[in-house]
Amino acid sequence: MGKMRKPLIAGNWKMNGSIGLAADLLQAMQPGVEESSVEVVICPPFSLLQSMGECFRETSVSLGAQNVHPQISGAYTGETSAAMLNEMEVKWCIVGHSERRAQFAETDALVRQKVGTLLQHGIQPIVCVGESLEEREAGKHESVVVEQLKNGLSGLAADDQLRCTIAYEPVWAIGTGKTATSQQANSMHLTIRRELAELATEQVASEIRILYGGSVNAANAAELLEQSEIDGALVGGASLKTDQFPGIIAASNV
Ligand code: PGA
Repeated sequence: MGKMRKPLIAGNWKMNGSIGLAADLLQAMQPGVEESSVEVVICPPFSLLQSMGECFRETSVSLGAQNVHPQISGAYTGETSAAMLNEMEVKWCIVGHSERRAQFAETDALVRQKVGTLLQHGIQPIVCVGESLEEREAGKHESVVVEQLKNGLSGLAADDQLRCTIAYEPVWAIGTGKTATSQQANSMHLTIRRELAELATEQVASEIRILYGGSVNAANAAELLEQSEIDGALVGGASLKTDQFPGIIAASNV
């Protein structure tokens, strides 16, 4: 039996890519992507948003950003606001990625502010949560993830929570070639869903999409994506590869 939630495959280009790659990737995704029942989002660096928006117009691929500032405008050198993302037709935005948490001091409180700003501007947040290797080895992985989830979504109305997507990305699996096993991932997704049932409502828990991220590629995608609680993937390295990303989309198109 198919899942009720529509699969979502999001590519996080991080500080990589070019407009040339966008065109090549779009071509590599044809014709399947238009007919597929999978939602596809690519999150390039800010500098590419405008031109990639033009490249993706008239296609079913949507555009996402990798970051946003919580304020609307002002003296925040180097930052980009949600209103500016709106102008570039950005529909999605990654928040709380572990690289931003670790390298740019993105705290749960900041994640929550960014989520609020994005929702006010009609941009769907992809809220990332995930434990480090030490936390997993110490048996704290579930409590760490639940805490990030609670803080990241705290005080949001149920319909706002439903506009969020959660991405579970164990830090030890990001860019390392080491994925969580499908059981480890599915079990954490189940924990997240149970927590959402308490935090929010049963409806939020059953309808919200939870993506897995961390070394997803065309070879391992099918096994991860067929798990009952995994609704898609947040893909880093393999989203930059024309011989990988289309295969991940195909693997979720079941
Ligand atoms: P990866 O990155 O697929 O290269 O492991 C995933 C991510 O950071 O979102």
